[in-house]
Amino acid sequence: MSKFLNLSIPVFGGIALLIGLAFGMSSRNHNAEKIETLETRLAQISEHASNAEKATKVQSDRAVELETKLAEIEEVYAELAKNGSDLTQAAPAVPGTLGIGRPAHAKEIAAWDVDVLPDGRGLPEGSGDVFVGEEVFAEKCAACHGDFAEGVDNWPVLAGGFDTLADKDPVKTVGSYWPHLSTAWDYINRSMPFGAAGTLTPDETYAIVAYILYSNDLVDDEFVLSKDNFSEFEMYNKDGFVIDDRPATEYANWQGEPCMSDCKDEVNITMRSVFLVDTPPEGGSDSVPNMATIDGLPSFTKEGPSFIPVAEEKPVEENVEKASLATPSAEVAGTADLIKAGKKVFKKCSACHQVGDKAKNRSGPVLNGIVGRTFGTVDGFKYSKVFKAAAEEGRVWDEANLAEFLKKPKAYMKQTKMSFSGLKKDEDLMAIIEYLKSTGQ
Ligand code: HEC
Ligand code: HEC
Repeated sequence: MSKFLNLSIPVFGGIALLIGLAFGMSSRNHNAEKIETLETRLAQISEHASNAEKATKVQSDRAVELETKLAEIEEVYAELAKNGSDLTQAAPAVPGTLGIGRPAHAKEIAAWDVDVLPDGRGLPEGSGDVFVGEEVFAEKCAACHGDFAEGVDNWPVLAGGFDTLADKDPVKTVGSYWPHLSTAWDYINRSMPFGAAGTLTPDETYAIVAYILYSNDLVDDEFVLSKDNFSEFEMYNKDGFVIDDRPATEYANWQGEPCMSDCKDEVNITMRSVFLVDTPPEGGSDSVPNMATIDGLPSFTKEGPSFIPVAEEKPVEENVEKASLATPSAEVAGTADLIKAGKKVFKKCSACHQVGDKAKNRSGPVLNGIVGRTFGTVDGFKYSKVFKAAAEEGRVWDEANLAEFLKKPKAYMKQTKMSFSGLKKDEDLMAIIEYLKSTGQ
């Protein structure tokens, strides 16, 4: 800096000022004035100098940067030359083929070769724990998959569903269904977050997978997943898949000459595939199977059907209605109307909750007899921490707190895992509560 100053002073007229100073010191006031001017000037000069210095620094940094870039490019070219091909050159003719294309570069292959196998082959170095996973998941995944991987609206559920695989409506999640952990790692690494695939670092992916295992109750909150312990992890449903042995066991049966005429003396209908389809209500499929038996159906021989049935009359509405809900015991007509309205409102809940005799826990707990019941006490349901705490405190649902909760679930129970924005209309709230009160125990 000082060297710069010395050089710069003549340029900015410093000498003239210094001379002026020598001759003009006639009065103190005058001197003081001069000194002030000089000081201002000096400050200006040094500012100029420092700006010039900064500019030089920026330029030299840029030069270093460009040199590094150049070196990188040269390196890439050297690599290309070594591989025997150049992206800008015409493709070499390959004998015995159509003469198109070129051998893939090692780096191109590496970019595609990202699959991870069940034994951990293909995994990059790295690790991640449940806590970090929870943070990354909340930021990048929870908008669609829910804070607890329970799935928002119709986005996929990633946790739970353990005892449902044999049900009519199985909940297949990473926890309940996927046989290999590598599938989760690989799938998430390649394709999630939806719309921003390929943005996760290896450590983030390890952490997220650890968190998904935690959400499935498969590990505790101290679990750390890494390249080293990855292949040891056994998934819940690892034995739930069988190897397809049909080529060995069944195909032989089909190899003989097929029968093309008069293959059976008599043909009997053993089943009817007829469903009386009730137009599914909003947000769910509720087709009602026709419980028809094969009684009274014709049999078929070469001569034709034994008789031709006449069309049955369409069953009346009542028969089609699902009988699972407890009949409302409404004394007042007004209450009955409310219950009916509430049943409609309940469609907003039925993606996650069931009521009635056969109700089961889904992603939300069974709601039978909720009014008057202690918070968070349905057997077998995995509640969030806030609900567990409320259960311990012995808080009881009544009409008032239920209305408040349902109006804005996340405001009333902070950190509840019920991903539902709330019922905005007072009449809906009144109706749903009346309906829930009618659902018995
Ligand atoms: C914008 C919404 C969205 C975001 C954000 C998102 N996902 Fe997904 N996810 C989806 C959709 C949609 C599917 C189903 C894709 C399909 O079936 O092709 C899916 C499927 C999955 C599956 C497979 C589920 C199954 O059982 O088939 C996993 C695992 C998964 N996502 C994990 C994640 C993780 C981890 C993140 C955060 C890094 C994430 N997702 C972020 C929308 C999202
Ligand atoms: C997206 C799924 C989802 C929807 C939709 C949903 N809930 Fe929930 N609900 C849950 C979950 C999950 C819980 C457990 C909350 C927790 O543990 O934090 C819950 C808890 C509850 C509870 C407390 C139960 C108890 O045992 O203490 C009530 C009451 C409830 N929901 C009512 C409703 C009603 C009424 C609707 C419709 C207006 C509805 N929910 C819509 C998922 C849902």
